[in-house]
Amino acid sequence: MKPKSQQQKPEAAQVRTPPETEPGAGRGFTHVPVMMREVLEALRPADGRIYLDGTLGGGGHARAILEASSPGGFLYGCDRDEAAIRAASERLAPYSGRFELRQGVFEQVDWVPEEACAGILLDLGVSSHQLDTPGRGFSFMADGPLDMRMNPREGITAAEILNSWPEGELARLFWEYGDERAARRIARRIVEERQMSPMTTTGQLAALIERVEPRRGRPKHPATQSFQALRIATNDELGILRRGLETLWTRLARGGRFAIITFHSLEDRVVKEYFRALVRDYDIPGPVDRADLRVPRAPYALAVTRKALRASEEETAANPRARSAQLRVVEKC
Ligand SMILES: C[S@@+](CC[C@H](N)C(=O)[O-])C[C@H]1O[C@@H](n2cnc3c(N)ncnc32)[C@H](O)[C@@H]1O
Repeated sequence: MKPKSQQQKPEAAQVRTPPETEPGAGRGFTHVPVMMREVLEALRPADGRIYLDGTLGGGGHARAILEASSPGGFLYGCDRDEAAIRAASERLAPYSGRFELRQGVFEQVDWVPEEACAGILLDLGVSSHQLDTPGRGFSFMADGPLDMRMNPREGITAAEILNSWPEGELARLFWEYGDERAARRIARRIVEERQMSPMTTTGQLAALIERVEPRRGRPKHPATQSFQALRIATNDELGILRRGLETLWTRLARGGRFAIITFHSLEDRVVKEYFRALVRDYDIPGPVDRADLRVPRAPYALAVTRKALRASEEETAANPRARSAQLRVVEKC
């Protein structure tokens, strides 16, 4: 079925959240979507409109968007991870004919028509399914190969980074992407260890970090920040986000809304700065914003959220992943 035209006026928000426990919902793929109510209020899915989910995961948000835009809403969806595409296809099966899913990164959505979408969603980071599958190598909670690629068929693994990058580059990675105070010491220890035997498993890396930074009763595992940093580098998450925002913007129709959920300050800063530039009513000709050099223009977007929205206390109590989630939304002028 082809999507209907986008030329109709937006209708009043109609927010219906489907239950998350329907039978056959992406069997074996466990991921509880965060800030569902807020996402639906932001995107206001409506019948006959087109939506794009650039980070499908298990299809939880996508399913809610299709349900709320019934009977004629259409959804394009992508994910780098083919396991996510499989799970989302299964979960979205009841909406057959109303979606098109492809494996790939959201910076490459040339297959989605330009200025077609009434709403675009990014729910960044990794899914619980990726984290909880030891073979994917994302977590220090269970031993597995140091892979960490969201698309296991593409790019270099976390192990390849750890075994080949110079010490200084590794220290910069842990410091810049993980805000890790012991970045230099961890990098030095990795270089010492890899001279004896290559870094191959998550357990090996977690134990090494724990030796550098003993836990001393702290609730947070000392490897938390370094694992996040390594994942960001392995998947070029920030580079793809910067470039992807530009591409996705071209897929949004006028009056359409762009909603992005981030989980750490680095990606939130990229989104905040991109949205801030869209809602400004002037261009900055040089690298520094000087009031006397500003060139007035009409804003490209309206801010729907002045500040990032956070998950409710009720949600964070039920789903600890939601604690670090921040949602920002703009509307295209
Ligand atoms: C937090 S999960 C999304 C969960 C989803 N909203 C749901 O309701 O199930 C993030 C997903 O985004 C995918 N992802 C991350 N970066 C991506 C990118 N640049 N392009 C496409 N998919 C990406 C990951 O593979 C993961 O499946």
